[in-house]
Amino acid sequence: MDQINSNNQFVSWLRTVAPYVNAFRGKTFVIGFSGEMVTGNKFVDFIHDINLLASLGIRLVLVHGARPQIQQKLDANNLSSQSVMGMRVTDSITLQCIKESVGRIHLEIEALLSMGLPNSPMANASITVASGNFVTACPVGVINGVDLMHTGKVRKINAHAIHTHLQQGEVVLVSPLGYSPTGEIFNLTFKNVATEIAIALNAEKLIFLLDTPGTTKSSTKNTYKLPRELTVVDCQTVLDDQSNQLPHETKEFLGCAIKACESSVTRTHLINRNADGAILQELFTHHGIGCMVSQETLQTLRKAKIEDVGSILQIIEPLEAEGVLVKRKRELLEIEIDRFIILEHDGITFGCAALYPFPNKDVCELACLAVHPDHRNAGHGDKLLKHIENQAVSQGIKQLFVLTTHATHWFIEHGFTETTLSELPKEKQDLYNYQRRSKVYIKDLNK
Ligand SMILES: CC(C)(COP(=O)(O)OP(=O)(O)OC[C@H]1O[C@@H](n2cnc3c(N)ncnc32)[C@H](O)[C@@H]1OP(=O)(O)O)[C@@H](O)C(=O)NCCC(=O)NCCS
Repeated sequence: MDQINSNNQFVSWLRTVAPYVNAFRGKTFVIGFSGEMVTGNKFVDFIHDINLLASLGIRLVLVHGARPQIQQKLDANNLSSQSVMGMRVTDSITLQCIKESVGRIHLEIEALLSMGLPNSPMANASITVASGNFVTACPVGVINGVDLMHTGKVRKINAHAIHTHLQQGEVVLVSPLGYSPTGEIFNLTFKNVATEIAIALNAEKLIFLLDTPGTTKSSTKNTYKLPRELTVVDCQTVLDDQSNQLPHETKEFLGCAIKACESSVTRTHLINRNADGAILQELFTHHGIGCMVSQETLQTLRKAKIEDVGSILQIIEPLEAEGVLVKRKRELLEIEIDRFIILEHDGITFGCAALYPFPNKDVCELACLAVHPDHRNAGHGDKLLKHIENQAVSQGIKQLFVLTTHATHWFIEHGFTETTLSELPKEKQDLYNYQRRSKVYIKDLNK
């Protein structure tokens, strides 16, 4: 029995993943991760996940950091470097250590991406890794009177060259180094490089894996946790709010998210790198595990289109089977689709409702108000009702009625009062199903 249950779960899980696989194929994701992640014990698993994403046809650019490796190298050589406003001052000796550390880490990642052992998640993988001088940089300059020397910032990204590699199915691996037209090398941050690459490529997603507080619930009480979703405007509000005590680094990531999403990147994800399969959980489940930033809110209320018939049926058919809603044939729904509105979240239909007119133009029927059981009690029913009411008012309708068997109290709490069948338009009275014994509720929209 357990075996059957787990098989059923597997099949149903795989089916739920299919829409994401279709949506992501051919899209560009830029993934930024720190040097800490490379030395962490989950890095090999992360590489397996990258292999999986690549095999699904997602175009991947990986941008790595190297901070702890650079620090280790400096310590080993008894060197120290000064910091100004969180940025390392890169003199020529420090730059030498940086080149060695970054070069080594880059090679190590390439080696991991080249694995293909049988009986491992990398079996049959044949990832070609491309690297190059994709990033042109310039010096940060003098800050607070200190010359940061070889510490730089991104000036230009060779998007064409990166696209060419991605088109050939290669994974592009980029280090936090940039080159100037004068032949100098600059030390950059992986955050800056990943953000600028995502913008230059018009990437679908910029993904940061981080372990700074904010992306994960902390054991310390009262620690601020970023919400699951933020618009760019919300993000700025979080940054401006001094009381949440977000660490400087988390703020930097939020700043990158704002910059990317205000430009051309559709979404930026901040994910806790310590969770197993963090990137898969974020990308292939609707609830995700991190914080997702987008330019606009992901929720839309709109008129239904013929393509929405399938998703509306998915919501109403189980309710029809339970006798909660009256059965509607697909053909009828297709004909009447103009009367429906849907509430959609990130491309998934959460609920629907319809407004049916009558020859007596003063009164209309609210029908088929339904919210998917997984998304109830979050105000979606209320939003759909308000939208239908506004629609009715704008059409000069004075009263809205509804027939219901299971949601009487919900309607009472939303300003409806019980009435009799005889109060309804004659056409509706003629169609009333006496076996269902639905109750009739009406709301005066002018009140
Ligand atoms: C009725 C329905 C649309 C409400 O959707 P929803 O998104 O959960 O509603 P909201 O989030 O706006 O409201 C939730 C509140 O209503 C209450 N509620 C939900 N369904 C209820 C019901 N059938 N009866 C009474 N109260 C109900 C919840 O307990 C919650 O109360 P709270 O805020 O005090 O915790 C949804 O339950 C549904 O799809 N029902 C099946 C279809 C149906 O009966 N449609 C009506 C006939 S057309």
